[in-house]
Amino acid sequence: MFGFGDMIAKLKKDPKTIVFTEGSDPRILEAASRLLASSFLTPILLGNEDEVNAAAEESGYNIRGAQIIDPAKYEKLDEMIELFCELRKSKGVTPEEAKKILSGANYFGTMLVKMGVADALLGGATYSTADTVRPALQLLKTKPGNSVVSSCFILVRPKATGENEVLAMADCAINIDPTEDELVEIAGETAECAKIFGVDPKVAFLSYSTGGSGKGETVDKMRNAAEKARAKYPELPIDGEMQFDAAVSPRVAKTKCPGSEVAGHANTFIFPDINAGNIGYKIAQRMGNFDAYGPILLGLNGSVNDLSRGCNAIEVYSMAIITAALA
Ligand SMILES: CC(C)(COP(=O)(O)OP(=O)(O)OC[C@H]1O[C@@H](n2cnc3c(N)ncnc32)[C@H](O)[C@@H]1OP(=O)(O)O)[C@@H](O)C(=O)NCCC(=O)NCCS
Repeated sequence: MFGFGDMIAKLKKDPKTIVFTEGSDPRILEAASRLLASSFLTPILLGNEDEVNAAAEESGYNIRGAQIIDPAKYEKLDEMIELFCELRKSKGVTPEEAKKILSGANYFGTMLVKMGVADALLGGATYSTADTVRPALQLLKTKPGNSVVSSCFILVRPKATGENEVLAMADCAINIDPTEDELVEIAGETAECAKIFGVDPKVAFLSYSTGGSGKGETVDKMRNAAEKARAKYPELPIDGEMQFDAAVSPRVAKTKCPGSEVAGHANTFIFPDINAGNIGYKIAQRMGNFDAYGPILLGLNGSVNDLSRGCNAIEVYSMAIITAALA
């Protein structure tokens, strides 16, 4: 499987635990059984123990060795409720309300990460992105020094040479209409994430305009964001605003932005908003034959990731490795 050797090696040196919020989902159980067969990542499955075991038996997956935690019977629930109320005290959450909220596996699992019981969390096989991400935003919050949590996708497809073509795209899943300053932060975080996947980032701020060829508020937003990003990350090749063809085609780049270090060779793409980003990565995935890994949350003070509800067990397995390795 693509590029996971380094991540697995890292986890073998420093094994982690990962909590799965949907403990009785067959795709989670299949991924958990594969993880259990190796020794670098221990799954914690949330749910009623009998139900999780019955689901595993029915779907034929061996989950012996997995920790199963039933939120309804958790022995440290009082401690968890107290911490939850403390974390949400600005919202005036009562212990009764906290108890009800924590009966949801998404909130309960996120608190396990907050309490250090688990190193990482992977959810979203049945929860929506918003319901998986919101508890993390509320309880784990942004990393010190960051102002926003965002996300990127890593896109991978084999080249004729046998190597992989690897790209990063952001923000395709969290921030609906990021500001200039948020785009700058998203670019920096995405470039860092791209490096982990072996990409030497060349960052393009995408638009329907290249170097002022078109006019509009979003054109200005992308041009200004690129300029601010260049000032903030002088070591990174960054350019924009530019159209996608100028970003990836050396021939078009020659005409539309001659002299650019990025144009024609971009591999890290910053989209103006979530519409462009989400549609863009899915076109690459569905029509460009790229495998898409993500959304990988960036800027979060903890390691939590979201699955697509259409995911399969292999995607769960690979996202579990990514999520734990980034913990
Ligand atoms: C991420 C998302 C769910 C947050 O929405 P929300 O829960 O309605 O957001 P709210 O404004 O109510 O904020 C909830 C909390 O998260 C925080 N928050 C929201 N967005 C944040 C961000 N991008 N970074 C950091 N914190 C954020 C808020 O400050 C708030 O904190 P508080 O409760 O401590 O005051 C929302 O931006 C969203 O729906 N994004 C699109 C998701 C999606 O559909 N993606 C496509 C499929 S992959």
